[in-house]
Amino acid sequence: MTSAQPSDGRRRRYAVVGTGHRAQMYVDALLGSHADVGEIVALCDSNATRMDYYQRRHREAVPGGPDLPTYAPEQFDVMLDAERPDGVVVTSVDATHAEYVTRALARGLDVICEKPLTTDAAGCRAVADAAVASDGELVVTFNYRYSPRNSAVKQLILDGAIGDVTSVHFEWVLDTVHGADYFRRWHREKARSGGLLVHKASHHFDLVNWWLGDEPRQVSAMGALRFYGEEAARSRRVGPRPARSHGAPGLADDPFGLDIAADPRLRALYLDAEAEDGYLRDRDVFSEGITIEDNMAVLVGYASGALLTYSLNAHAPWEGYRVAINGTEGRLELAVVERAAVRTAAAVDPGVTPDRDGGSDVPRRPGAELLVQRHWEEARRVPITEGSGPHGGGDALLLDDLFRPGGAPDPLGRRAGWRDGVRSVLVGVAANESIATGQPVRTEALLTPVS
Ligand SMILES: NC(=O)c1ccc[n+]([C@@H]2O[C@H](COP(=O)([O-])OP(=O)(O)OC[C@H]3O[C@@H](n4cnc5c(N)ncnc54)[C@H](O)[C@@H]3O)[C@@H](O)[C@H]2O)c1
Repeated sequence: MTSAQPSDGRRRRYAVVGTGHRAQMYVDALLGSHADVGEIVALCDSNATRMDYYQRRHREAVPGGPDLPTYAPEQFDVMLDAERPDGVVVTSVDATHAEYVTRALARGLDVICEKPLTTDAAGCRAVADAAVASDGELVVTFNYRYSPRNSAVKQLILDGAIGDVTSVHFEWVLDTVHGADYFRRWHREKARSGGLLVHKASHHFDLVNWWLGDEPRQVSAMGALRFYGEEAARSRRVGPRPARSHGAPGLADDPFGLDIAADPRLRALYLDAEAEDGYLRDRDVFSEGITIEDNMAVLVGYASGALLTYSLNAHAPWEGYRVAINGTEGRLELAVVERAAVRTAAAVDPGVTPDRDGGSDVPRRPGAELLVQRHWEEARRVPITEGSGPHGGGDALLLDDLFRPGGAPDPLGRRAGWRDGVRSVLVGVAANESIATGQPVRTEALLTPVS
């Protein structure tokens, strides 16, 4: 089976596993823009209140229709037996992905899985084995590939604009709104998210793997928690602070506070749901219990001999990224500002859409610039047609590719499969191991079971 629409023209049936923030993009598409080609037939989550949120959206979109059946995680197989979906959309907590992916693939179902595909080496091995043995297709939703600016880089490399790639320098900065958000909830625990080198950087490692069409082989990394967390805050004399933002005095003036009571969506998805499972969405970013890093530096060697130097910082005053790619015939530089400055108190914006223009006299403004310079020539600017919406317009293009596959040609190979998902996670997992041991790590060693 593949994700193409069934030849009988019927709508494809999807079960959605994990009904938090990210599920909304898929649910809204299947209830709205893509309802002609797909439908949701069941929801699965450990939290009934969060499933209710989507049940209400379903009732609004399908008035008078039957409610969606809902299932707890331990009923996943019962759900597949009862509802007979064609595919499963996995948008649950990162560390749970591999379990659902492998169980769905074992039944020959198609799977649409959010990044990261998994969080550890065992998950990579399990997913790879299941994908090879299955008739189902696994698509990993690397929306950043679909951003016009990132697609433009791929096109330039394919066109030979800079010759053969020899090295990449890639810096990503998360600001004190978006970056801080990873330190409030489950992402702050490495066991649940793999840390930012897996949870976040799998996007970035995938971009480099895809741009270069190459295999990451050896990884060295260093990383530390320098800005968030109790210990770092103590050394900078931050605090004392309330354990969470909700109801805290001075919340409106706290740049690291998040008022989940003030936002109807956050209230419905998290505040109203927390009594059920104790999932607190607004924990203090300077509190104890954080096991991930906020400053990371990674060195990757590729099969072709190309090198990557990568860094990720999660407490910058602006958000965006800079990439420089060196080739045998020249150099390419991409500079992207997603948010030029954090000017207001906390707001959740995981997708980060460009903010309002700061005025003509400010030097940093939202936007993207792509330059190519061939040897012995002046640099030239490559025009980028940005899309609208989150991730530089990437999300909208991705949805079409997922739910209307084959509708448009894919000359850049943007549709990502299990190998891409595994490859991207392996870099982060290897980097985590290198941080822990101080040693370089070979990615193939992670795919070989110890015994
Ligand atoms: N591609 C992107 O740009 C992007 C953006 C945001 C999130 N994501 C991904 O989407 C996923 C969900 O992130 P989110 O922001 O929606 O988080 P979230 O916390 O809002 O939602 C996660 C959901 O998983 C549920 N859950 C926890 N354990 C479960 C289990 N064992 N079985 C089933 N459900 C379980 C939680 O109850 C919650 O409803 C993550 O993997 C994240 O990396 C991707």
